[in-house]
Amino acid sequence: MSFDGQPALYGVIGHPVKHSLSPRIHEFWYEKHQKHARYLALDLLEASPTEDIRALGRAGFSGLNVTLPHKLSALEAAADISDAAMKIGAANTLRNVQTDQVSPAWFADNTDWSGFLWSLDRWIPDLPEKALLIGAGGAARAVAYALGQRGVRLSILNRTPEKARALADHMNLFVDEISTLDQIEVLAGNFPLVINTVSLGHSGGRIELPTTNSGYFIDISYGAAASETLNAAQASGWKTEDGLPMLVGQAADAFNIWFEETPDREAALKACRDWTR
Ligand code: ATR
Repeated sequence: MSFDGQPALYGVIGHPVKHSLSPRIHEFWYEKHQKHARYLALDLLEASPTEDIRALGRAGFSGLNVTLPHKLSALEAAADISDAAMKIGAANTLRNVQTDQVSPAWFADNTDWSGFLWSLDRWIPDLPEKALLIGAGGAARAVAYALGQRGVRLSILNRTPEKARALADHMNLFVDEISTLDQIEVLAGNFPLVINTVSLGHSGGRIELPTTNSGYFIDISYGAAASETLNAAQASGWKTEDGLPMLVGQAADAFNIWFEETPDREAALKACRDWTR
């Protein structure tokens, strides 16, 4: 949706959102694809997010990305929801399918899971048959959905194991084993792939992995939040990756939903590495 001569408006809503790389990633592609569009970071407080998201649709935003803590509100604000977003229970991408200025009409989708799969596919030649997932929150649900789509068998560790059980039940996923986070040092060495979705970096903690000489370890956060955990994993022999490729992957799939064009993910990832160096 664009008014005469005005750029089409896109953005990311979250709180906090100041440090989001999404505006830079999307505007990098707008330039390459010659889009008359702008992408803004909008700090949306928690008071009435569902109504605010609807209002942004009425105000003429063509598309929104959604980050914490609004991924559930984005579902509530939507008139239509993709199957993936419904199963994951969260939306990170909204497309405005509104035909008039009165009825709010967001279509809610989720590209976190497909962005995560892109990050795995570019890194691991053959996905292993089993993986260990650490965490059972919103991000873990997108990862579990992605691995479920590929038929990878999951085990889950979480501080609160009941939440891991609820995740598996909600998604109808068969899970080999569910245990508490303190089992990580005992169990992780048995897995060719370990995915950490728990951000302990902000509180100064980190995930302690056992020594290995072949496993893949991905932490879906990036920057300072991931570096301690990743450095320790690398020192223990794990091949490591951070969450920047997932961030770029989810952004590319959102771009594709909005413009039906595929942007250059590797170029954007390289730019992100430069911006965050
Ligand atoms: P996100 O969308 O980033 O996954 P979330 O839905 O709030 O955020 O989920 C946070 C995850 O980090 C959960 O797995 C949570 O464990 P619980 O389910 O037991 O709450 C985990 N987590 C958060 N803080 C933690 C801490 N200090 N120690 C261990 N796990 C923690």
